[in-house]
Amino acid sequence: MSTNNFFAKKKDWSKTKDSILGSYLTPYFYKLLAYHRPICYIDCFAGKGKFDDGENGSPLIALECIKKDLTVSKYVKKQIKAYFIELNHFKDLENNLIVDNIDDLSIEVVGGRFEDNIDLILNNHPFDTVFLYVDPYGIKALDVKKFCSFKTNETKSVEMLINFNTWGFFREACRVLKVDFKLDDAINEYLVEYEPANDINRDELTRIAGGDFWIKIVQDFKNQLISSKEAEKLLADGISDAFKSKYKYVLNVPVRSNQDNIIPKYRLFHLTNHDEGCLIMADIMYKRINESIERQQGGQMSIFEFNTEGNLESQENTKQMIKDIFPSSSICLTPFLCEFFTKFGIETGSSKLIEYIKELEYEGFLKISRFPDKTTKGQESTFMREDKKHKVILNKAV
Ligand SMILES: C[S@@+](CC[C@H](N)C(=O)[O-])C[C@H]1O[C@@H](n2cnc3c(N)ncnc32)[C@H](O)[C@@H]1O
Repeated sequence: MSTNNFFAKKKDWSKTKDSILGSYLTPYFYKLLAYHRPICYIDCFAGKGKFDDGENGSPLIALECIKKDLTVSKYVKKQIKAYFIELNHFKDLENNLIVDNIDDLSIEVVGGRFEDNIDLILNNHPFDTVFLYVDPYGIKALDVKKFCSFKTNETKSVEMLINFNTWGFFREACRVLKVDFKLDDAINEYLVEYEPANDINRDELTRIAGGDFWIKIVQDFKNQLISSKEAEKLLADGISDAFKSKYKYVLNVPVRSNQDNIIPKYRLFHLTNHDEGCLIMADIMYKRINESIERQQGGQMSIFEFNTEGNLESQENTKQMIKDIFPSSSICLTPFLCEFFTKFGIETGSSKLIEYIKELEYEGFLKISRFPDKTTKGQESTFMREDKKHKVILNKAV
């Protein structure tokens, strides 16, 4: 076990995760500040703040985003409270978080376990918009049932970004069910820095995954009905389904290393009940995962486009998927796109999906109407992005 080395140098595979977090938080905080609602940001496994090679860890990445947004935000009533929970390195973290005083932001380092502190923190913010970043060493502290119990209602909204070590889970699930399985070396390289979980039992695995669906997956793998790669994907789908019992929109992407791009090291799950946030996150995930595929190919742009699972995207299939989930009653564009991503994964970015939707109108499958339907110059509106003043409504063609 070499978790002690984790902070020596930021690993290549951590960079994708960090860039997804950093790219999302800037538009996230900016939008929320506009709603004048108090914001609570919680980094639940915060680490040291800085890696020994000088690279910023997640706490400093988040603080930079907050600082940028508070500086440019023109809205007067602002209030952000940021918590950084860390069990082992909280002294280092406190030292690394000595940043310039930022008006409207208060920071608290919580030295202790996430499990012992999270309820108290959430109870102290009953009306806030809350974002939790969950990046633990292994799977022990993950708890899908618990994550689904965080209260989201009219006045409070909880959104999460979770690093879920699905391969670590699969390895332990095989051990518990006494199924032979040897991890690929490329994944092992990633898992060595993670906390071993070889004392975890069947009930704990069910708690972690949010259900006992994992048992059949491992049995199917044992009976050679599925490969380990398929098993990992099914596991991710099962975890997503468990999250969907509480969160309207659930995204997950496999994060690969730049060196060997074949097998994902871990998965990032994003959970929210807000379509705007889901759409922003889906586009960021799509872009960042594709950049990592490109980097792996030595910076060469591929003539093919891949979905975030690393499979070729096909226009015909994607259009069929749109048809498959198209509702019989009208729906606005943004929630429709988010439902697509939640159901099928990030097949392609939102711009391309929107192009397909326009093609489906041309082909007579659906109808697009807009509010307002005319521009200020009296011309037909053609916009395909929504905001407070613009709505795009989709209907099945009759
Ligand atoms: C993967 S690292 C987090 C890295 C961090 N996100 C970053 O970008 O720098 C996980 C951290 O969780 C801490 N930790 C382990 N168990 C914990 C627990 N139960 N509660 C809170 N922190 C914990 C570890 O000390 C470690 O610093």
